[in-house]
Amino acid sequence: MSRTLIKDALLAAAPMEAILLQGWVRTRRDAKAFSFIELNDGSCLKGIQVIADASLPDYVHIAKANTGASLEVRGKLVASKGSGQKWEVVAEKFTVVGEADATYPLQKKGHTLEFLREIAHLRPRSNLFGAVFRVRSRLAYAIHQFFQAKGFCYVHTPIITASDCEGAGELFRVSTLDPLHPPKTEQGAIDYTQDFFGKQAYLTVSGQLEAEIFATALSNVYTFGPTFRAENSNTSRHASEFWMIEPEIAFCDLQGNMDLAEEFVKYLIRDAKEHCAGDLEFFSKFVDKDLLVRLDFVLERPFQRCSYTEAIDILGRSGKTWEHPVAWGDNLQSEHERFLAEEHFKCPVTVYNYPRTLKPFYMRVNEDGRTVTAMDLLVPGIGEIIGGSQREERLDVLRENMRAHHLSEKDYWWYTDLRRYGTVPHSGFGLGFERMLMFVTGVANIRDVIPFARTPGTVEF
Ligand code: 4AD
Ligand code: MG
Repeated sequence: MSRTLIKDALLAAAPMEAILLQGWVRTRRDAKAFSFIELNDGSCLKGIQVIADASLPDYVHIAKANTGASLEVRGKLVASKGSGQKWEVVAEKFTVVGEADATYPLQKKGHTLEFLREIAHLRPRSNLFGAVFRVRSRLAYAIHQFFQAKGFCYVHTPIITASDCEGAGELFRVSTLDPLHPPKTEQGAIDYTQDFFGKQAYLTVSGQLEAEIFATALSNVYTFGPTFRAENSNTSRHASEFWMIEPEIAFCDLQGNMDLAEEFVKYLIRDAKEHCAGDLEFFSKFVDKDLLVRLDFVLERPFQRCSYTEAIDILGRSGKTWEHPVAWGDNLQSEHERFLAEEHFKCPVTVYNYPRTLKPFYMRVNEDGRTVTAMDLLVPGIGEIIGGSQREERLDVLRENMRAHHLSEKDYWWYTDLRRYGTVPHSGFGLGFERMLMFVTGVANIRDVIPFARTPGTVEF
């Protein structure tokens, strides 16, 4: 007999004479003549109730079916007499596959998220994390569906690279040099020509530059993979390793880029609502009471759009006292981004045309000469979840930008070649996958939407 997943058992159309379930014991309650076991196999939020009668030959093992133990149950699927669930299983045979003693950390009592992070190898067995990681899996699939249905080509951009796309210097070095005795140049600097790749190499901060190469060949492409930032910011929204979705579109301007970003975010929300309804309901009960209302609100309305200059104006007129006072030319801090999305517009807002000095070398310079076609999508509760732009397609302007950013043309010869041969206006953006998951689940800390968080000082598991 093959195993039935609990998700399917709970959705059964009719009773079943014989069923095989495998999973982990969440709780067990013993009465005089029988025991109730709540069995969960992670296929859905809910567990199924198993009734083990004291007259069963296997009943001598019941004491081993403790919280956390793995269990195999054969029996009948019958209509439940109890309220709250349609089906339950009357056991005929059960085997404790792997025991768990009283030291099992996930006993029934509620645990703090901080404690659960310390046991990231066990937390997927909790309701909350089972739900988070099912949604994560579903949305990873939905991302491919969205782009594939639109004819976008999935490109695997490299994880090891020699370029710093964002120019923020937040790179993790990839090196095989002996840290105690690195080879030195005559001037006494470390001689990276003797390193593994013959020059300095890093973990990528973004697949964008390579995605641009493919967009100027295959027209519509996307990359979806891990990215790395050695940014020493210990916030609830920053991780050192996170996943990013980066579409890149040839013959597309900033308007088209903003339209795609909005359609994409709404698609993912709709998909989660449709395919992870039980898990979202759980989040709205236990994590964030306003979650479902907020998601519906976001789906129903067009996102707002506002230029950086307008945003500075709004912030100035707000009458708020900011921790970081803000004037034209300053970066928007989290408090400003959240004010715009949460209090002013009360919905997602795309801020565009940022000062040239704040943004990387590849963004297209506007007519005014002092702003670039950047766009950041800000959402309530989180702030920025998308960063993108139209790219500078004019060779001369790009070269000037590179000079201003102290980038050597020699290192980016292939990037400038794209402007030398058949250049086109093109645009793209990056959606932080974990930030999107925070938005969809209401989970407030990025450490709790990634299986094993890497943050400054933390690399356990
Ligand atoms: O705004 P960013 O830095 O943009 C880029 O990397 C562009 N090259 C993307 C592109 O145009 N193809 O990052 C994009 C998004 C942010 O909006 C945010 O959601 C997420 O990536 N992000 C992070 N998420 C978690 N932890 C971090 N440290 C993040 N840094 C950026
Ligand atoms: Mg950004």
